[in-house]
Amino acid sequence: MLGLIPTFQGAQQEQTFLSMASTLPTQDQLGGSAMASTVLIFSTLYNFGARKFGIIGVLPIGCCPARRVYNATGGCLEGMNNFARAFHFALDTLMRKISSELPEMKYSLGNTHELIINVIQNPSHFNLKDVETACCGAGRLNAEIPCNVTSNLCVNRKEYLFWDMCHPTQTASQLVAVTLYDGPPRFVTPINFHQLADDN
Ligand SMILES: *[C@@H]1O[C@H](CO)[C@@H](O)[C@H](O)[C@H]1NC(C)=O
Ligand SMILES: *[C@@H]1O[C@H](CO)[C@@H](O)[C@H](O)[C@H]1NC(C)=O
Repeated sequence: MLGLIPTFQGAQQEQTFLSMASTLPTQDQLGGSAMASTVLIFSTLYNFGARKFGIIGVLPIGCCPARRVYNATGGCLEGMNNFARAFHFALDTLMRKISSELPEMKYSLGNTHELIINVIQNPSHFNLKDVETACCGAGRLNAEIPCNVTSNLCVNRKEYLFWDMCHPTQTASQLVAVTLYDGPPRFVTPINFHQLADDN
């Protein structure tokens, strides 16, 4: 797949990306094809001259209200979260490898999975009251029908993690943005977005 990219300028770079693709720590076919697509995106951007990459990461997608609806207890769908976590670790390995082989390339990788799980486990630390229900929608967890003008609307959206079926509120987005910008290695590695921006 990667050998088909027509824009590679040097055989050496092509070799780098090909060797990365062949050693990816995939857990299954789905994860493998997701990583192959990711390698393709990075190699394309790199060939256009990109050298700094800020990567937000994959959220715990099984914790969206619209996914929780499928769990009788209202808990997160662990199978989906396992995929998201596996993807994050594969991406982490990939980025270490790319940056060790292409020293001028710099990156920050957000662990938004860890970040959001931490918020879900400690909502009061973040002034949130509801991390399971959608603010706008209808049905169970307010997440069975998409938000529209006649939906149920929560009283204070600032107390919610989720705006609708699977989108974060503005409060949640701001929390993620601030943490990726200035947060510790637990949530963004190997440097945060602030350090990435300042790096010359
Ligand atoms: C449903 O949520 C519970 C926690 O409330 C969790 O232990 C369980 O694994 C979840 N079920 C699935 C299918 O993910
Ligand atoms: C809007 O949501 C309500 C439930 O709150 C639903 O009954 C209605 O069909 C929806 N309207 C449209 C246009 O989708």
